[in-house]
Amino acid sequence: MRQKLFDTLLLIAFSTVAVAALAQPPQLINGYEPKWWKEAVVYQIYPRSFKDSNGDGIGDIPGITSKLDYLQKLGVNVIWLSPHFDSPNADNGYDIRDYRKVMAEFGSMADFDTLLAGIKQRHMRLIIDLVVNHTSDEHQWFVASRSSRTNPYRDFYIWRPGRTAPDGSKLPPNNYPSYFSGSAWTYDAKTDEYYLHYFAVKQPDLNWANPKVREEVFSLMRFWLDKGVSGFRMDVIPLISKPAGMPDLTPEQLKNPSNTFANGPHLTEYLQQMNREVLSHYDDMTVGEAIGTTVAQTPSLVDDRRHELNMIFNFDAVRIGRQGGEGPRGSWTLPELKAIYTAHAQELGKHDWDTVFLSNHDNPRLVSAFGDDSAAFRVPSAKLLETMILTLRGTPFLYQGDELGMTNYPFHQLSDYDDIAVKNAYQAQVASGKVPADVFFAATSKIARDNARTPMQWDAGPEGGFTSGTHPWLAVNPNSKSLNAAAEAADPDSVLNYTRRLIALRATTKAFVYGDYQDLDPQHPTVFAYTRTLGPEQYLVVENFSSKPLVYTLPNNRKAAQQVLDDYPGPAEGNTSTLHLQPWEARIYKQ
Ligand code: GLC
Ligand code: CA
Repeated sequence: MRQKLFDTLLLIAFSTVAVAALAQPPQLINGYEPKWWKEAVVYQIYPRSFKDSNGDGIGDIPGITSKLDYLQKLGVNVIWLSPHFDSPNADNGYDIRDYRKVMAEFGSMADFDTLLAGIKQRHMRLIIDLVVNHTSDEHQWFVASRSSRTNPYRDFYIWRPGRTAPDGSKLPPNNYPSYFSGSAWTYDAKTDEYYLHYFAVKQPDLNWANPKVREEVFSLMRFWLDKGVSGFRMDVIPLISKPAGMPDLTPEQLKNPSNTFANGPHLTEYLQQMNREVLSHYDDMTVGEAIGTTVAQTPSLVDDRRHELNMIFNFDAVRIGRQGGEGPRGSWTLPELKAIYTAHAQELGKHDWDTVFLSNHDNPRLVSAFGDDSAAFRVPSAKLLETMILTLRGTPFLYQGDELGMTNYPFHQLSDYDDIAVKNAYQAQVASGKVPADVFFAATSKIARDNARTPMQWDAGPEGGFTSGTHPWLAVNPNSKSLNAAAEAADPDSVLNYTRRLIALRATTKAFVYGDYQDLDPQHPTVFAYTRTLGPEQYLVVENFSSKPLVYTLPNNRKAAQQVLDDYPGPAEGNTSTLHLQPWEARIYKQ
């Protein structure tokens, strides 16, 4: 009896200590709760284009595994893998047929497990792509859904009767456009109804209003988390809640449909349920592709008191100058770009977290879009852009090949492209006679997603060392003879080696993670100068966004102190207000 009482007392004492330990508020850094994913540098892999291991011309999982040492040496510590699931590839894997199977072209589940083990062995983590706004039309749910109006899976998708035009012909249920041209509705004769697809005809949208759909999604998320992945990049996640009643978009809304599509009435409810039932049970990270979400709306998805997502991708910077996000790129100015980062710093507070990226598999190459990819300035401008991405406020996301300064591809004709977005746009615009072919190709070649999808350039050998075969699925950029990882590894002043130094500096400098951000000269047309400040520690970054040299005087008699990194070799210039900047020079100072 005594012993029992003693045990009970002991237990109470222990649990009080445990509760007290749990109740301890986390040690904040500059007001932020520290998290591994805030300190991470993420590297995106587009598996089809990374490394082919068996000579069939298609990148694969064993290929990625063979390059893990390269990634470890680069210094990145989280890998985001674009979809690796079974798919008929209407949209290169963003149309999933089976969420629990690896795409046969990429390898087997055993290959995936080997990759994951190799990543963990190197103290890195893996996040995967969660594509659950839609599935492939070949997914068994959709095959069942379209088979009859009474099939139990009918309500897994969004079916509506059509409308009838005055002349008796059939019209879709409303005027929603697809991101890949044409209507977002396709008529299915079998059951005489239309199904919704915001993207390709082969990507029917799931009906998240159906609780069974949500349960299925949560279950597949657990499947991968239980395997040991560390979270998800969530494809077009704000689109999962459809607008109430789905009325026609007004002419104003039609200018930027994403804003309407991304603001459905049940988004919060679905994400909070996902967090409660799945995410909160793991030490994971989530980043939502928040197409259509404004910077002011961002906290409503990422504020940690809401228990939804950790961070999102906002597209204001990467799509600057592209009318509503999807159009060809017009002109943009550096003050406009700087204003975007200031707006982020103002709108996102201590409970929110941000991302920094300027490229991915849906956008042109970093150096071609934001730098100067001519022979004279490719290297310094690529380095400047990496400097910016790795020192701005938010978790940086690097896209494969940008650490080499890979460039856009010289596309000329339709057959040079693979992307369904381009092929559909060609049909809708050129084949229909609305846009002359030369106008279409001039705009498309600059912004096409395939620019980012040409194979990684590993060495000077045939096909850039991407494949031992002779038919890569998409042509290798002809500049691979001189622009490749092997050549850059051997050159201390290459983009690759500079990026390694930058990542190492960030990894040891908390000011770049948790520090406050201040733009020192918002109106300067070509200089981006900003500080990152964490308590007594301050860093100053100065970047000359121009192909011309410049003598630049820091505002308010500020002095640049000790130079710690420079994208040009040569003597440092410190303890001065007047900086002699080379074209595309980027410098980091410790103040
Ligand atoms: C996202 C993906 C893009 C894909 C689309 C449809 O935007 O990044 O590649 O085409 O969603 O899944
Ligand atoms: Ca292969």
